[in-house]
Amino acid sequence: MSYQDIERNLFVHVSDLMQWDCRTIESLPKDLRKSLRKRIEQISDDFTMHRKALLGNYLIDPIDIAAYAMYFHSSSIHRMLHVLERVPAKLHDLPTQLSILDVGAGTGAASEAFLIFLSRMRKKRLPVFHLLDQSSAALAFAKEHLTRTSLMPIGVKTKTVDVQNIAPIQQSYDVYLFSNVINELSDLALGNILKGMKQHAWIVMVEPALKETAQKLMQYKSTLTDLGLHIWAPCTHNLVCPMLKNEGDWCHFEAPWEMGDFRKSMDQALGHHSEALKYAYLLAGQHKINEPRKRVLSPKLKTKIKKVHAMYVCDQKEIGYYYFDKKNRQMADVQKGDLIQLTQVSDYPEAQRYYPNTKSYWVKDEV
Ligand SMILES: C[S@@+](CC[C@H](N)C(=O)[O-])C[C@H]1O[C@@H](n2cnc3c(N)ncnc32)[C@H](O)[C@@H]1O
Repeated sequence: MSYQDIERNLFVHVSDLMQWDCRTIESLPKDLRKSLRKRIEQISDDFTMHRKALLGNYLIDPIDIAAYAMYFHSSSIHRMLHVLERVPAKLHDLPTQLSILDVGAGTGAASEAFLIFLSRMRKKRLPVFHLLDQSSAALAFAKEHLTRTSLMPIGVKTKTVDVQNIAPIQQSYDVYLFSNVINELSDLALGNILKGMKQHAWIVMVEPALKETAQKLMQYKSTLTDLGLHIWAPCTHNLVCPMLKNEGDWCHFEAPWEMGDFRKSMDQALGHHSEALKYAYLLAGQHKINEPRKRVLSPKLKTKIKKVHAMYVCDQKEIGYYYFDKKNRQMADVQKGDLIQLTQVSDYPEAQRYYPNTKSYWVKDEV
């Protein structure tokens, strides 16, 4: 399904919710488009500038649900899909009867992404989604939207609950989705949610790459490992995130995407640039995977050293700076977010002259 299709489907359900007398985005009257734009602008500002002060109850009014669904929902899907695609293939063997918990589900974007992911896997599954949110209005929209959009038979159950004060959940799920809800989750709440977790369960956390939320995820890693979980990605190890040593850094990645026309028009009107979606994430579970490769954390960067480029790589206990000749064939196709296993690497003390106190390596060209 293209993002254009996702946007069109959302609009039909938004139009029903708002009791608007139009079935296509193109026929949306100017004044309604304007009221959507105003709410989108307000929610955007709240998410970026007033995030700390943002209380959970912002998806109550139908116009806010409509605005969220028409602008933020599809980017949440995209981020979640990107992350789901990073679950190691050897862990894909989930049961046919699948139960998914979507925490802070909002309009149901994370669950919709999971449905798209399942349909791409082409294995028969019977998913039942359990959506939690403090907004019963958002949950009602999500249930309707998922049920009407899904191409496979699904179950959708909803529960209105304050996840910050949630009691331990005894029920077990196969997949736990946390999309844009990290701000609402204390360590205690997370422990209570994951209480009955199945042995093979996937824990999927995705956030936009705002410094504050991405750093919170980096800290959250230890909360997950303290619960006995193993981190599958982006980290390839369970140690405390080495990026936390540097206040100015936050671990994040980005993905290009084809947004729908409505989102494009809103971006234009609001002066937003979202051609590439930036996101931070954590994938975890009880299964220990031995990943010998390392995660690349930066794009190729020019350095102060002539003809030498560099990339930052997570070296478990610290961030390693890998320098190489700009024509190096080992590094030619390497991109931010990739997993690499480099051969022909040695210490590179020359870099200390320009970049003191960093762990620097030289990547030789292939032989
Ligand atoms: C930014 S939205 C994310 C929605 C959806 N997961 C997504 O990625 O598009 C955050 C959601 O968390 C819900 N929420 C915030 N605080 C909550 C709380 N204390 N208990 C339950 N839900 C909460 C909000 O109602 C909202 O639907």
